[in-house]
Amino acid sequence: MMLLYEGKAKQVYSTEKENEYIVYFKDDATAFNGEKKAEISSKGILNNKISTIMFEMLHEKQISTHFVKNISEREMLVKKVEILPLEVIVRNITAGSFCKRVGIEEGIVLDEPIFEICYKNDEYGDPMLNDDHAVAMKLATRDELKFLREETLKINELMKEFFLKMNLKLVDFKLEFGKDSEGNIILADEISPDTCRLWDVDTNEKLDKDRFRRDLGDLVKGYEEVLSRISN
Ligand code: C5P
Repeated sequence: MMLLYEGKAKQVYSTEKENEYIVYFKDDATAFNGEKKAEISSKGILNNKISTIMFEMLHEKQISTHFVKNISEREMLVKKVEILPLEVIVRNITAGSFCKRVGIEEGIVLDEPIFEICYKNDEYGDPMLNDDHAVAMKLATRDELKFLREETLKINELMKEFFLKMNLKLVDFKLEFGKDSEGNIILADEISPDTCRLWDVDTNEKLDKDRFRRDLGDLVKGYEEVLSRISN
């Protein structure tokens, strides 16, 4: 196995098979583009388990993803893809950078989901783009952007419904997509409380990475609560 890529929370390794990679989930937590850092024991294990459940759920609903199978506590086997340099965000309830940027209060349920795309670039702090920027920068074509929006909004409906059954509100989340060897765009990366804001329906308790970002309580307890609810 050769280390091909190391991100803030994951490593990607090559395998003997040309078209498969291994994703390894680390315990590192970062926020504010790496300004706040910590190692949180067992976070990687929880995110691997939660992501596995989410990818399996989406696969059952005919969404194409890079997930092949779970191979250990911290590792999943995935299809080789070339990650598009875009972070795709959906918001159902106001929170996070949207509130900070425009001064809107946190917790307002939106009439329609908001779809955002950002340029995946740490040096520039993942700036938000519109379609014209993304096309001009040759990050994606108009057709690809149309597909990303439609696929992401479909995934939002599936995830919202899935979490609601577990008494969780899906506030917002980030997805990444990649191109497989046949040129198909498929869902990649991870789906975990690192990348989704999840609030308890009754209490609005935050069970996601905002616990770390804003010192709202034990992160592992929040992630364990999410895992136990979605494991049933
Ligand atoms: O910070 P912001 O409010 O824009 O984040 C929206 C959603 O996207 C949150 O669920 C957050 O966890 C996720 N996100 C992410 N990785 C980033 C930026 C945002 O997972 N680099």
